[in-house]
Amino acid sequence: MLNIALPKGRLGEKVYAMFERAGFECPAIHEENRKLYFENEALGLRYFWVKPSDVAIYVARGAADIGVAGKDILLEYRPDVYELLDLRVGRCRMCVAGPRDFRDDPGRTLRVATKFSNIASGYYASIGRDIDVIGLNGSIELAPILGLSDVIVDIVETGTTLKENNLAVLETIVPISARLISNKASYVFYKARIEELVRAISREVET
Ligand code: PRP
Repeated sequence: MLNIALPKGRLGEKVYAMFERAGFECPAIHEENRKLYFENEALGLRYFWVKPSDVAIYVARGAADIGVAGKDILLEYRPDVYELLDLRVGRCRMCVAGPRDFRDDPGRTLRVATKFSNIASGYYASIGRDIDVIGLNGSIELAPILGLSDVIVDIVETGTTLKENNLAVLETIVPISARLISNKASYVFYKARIEELVRAISREVET
């Protein structure tokens, strides 16, 4: 069995559809229930739905042979996995955002609220700016509104969340999309199968 971890939710469904079109189908997955794993014994495939930010953990530790994770998670946690393919779905960007009229005062430490402490620290280190990272788990947009931080580092997809909270993108740090990743040992063990899968799925990637 090749174990495949997919991110639970809309992105995961889109990604599964790509796997299905590429010939790696598992019809049981369409059954409406709360089951979290599905098998196609004939094809030797087992899919399971995991929280998007956990996919890389399953793959790095070998509980899944391959999986699909956002580039944001790969940059933030640097899991020990191979990144095999950019699936070009789940596209968004990692940005610095803040009040529309925000002007940075270089004389003060910049307070940055984020779920992505490593990405934020790396970005500001690269431009030589001292920051105080404020780690939050969600609703990051509230931080500058309530004066908890000056700016935020967060994912922007449509920009609606920022707009509706009177914030704007100040800088784009890096584009993000979903990536096919592999456990390093599994890649050696299942090399032919995984390479075949990568070839087939790359034909389903929209250019
Ligand atoms: C992300 C991000 C923003 C929002 C951006 O949150 O943190 O809040 O999406 O999307 P938009 O530009 O299309 O408005 P997510 O929905 O992943 O939930 P979270 O607050 O739990 O991070």
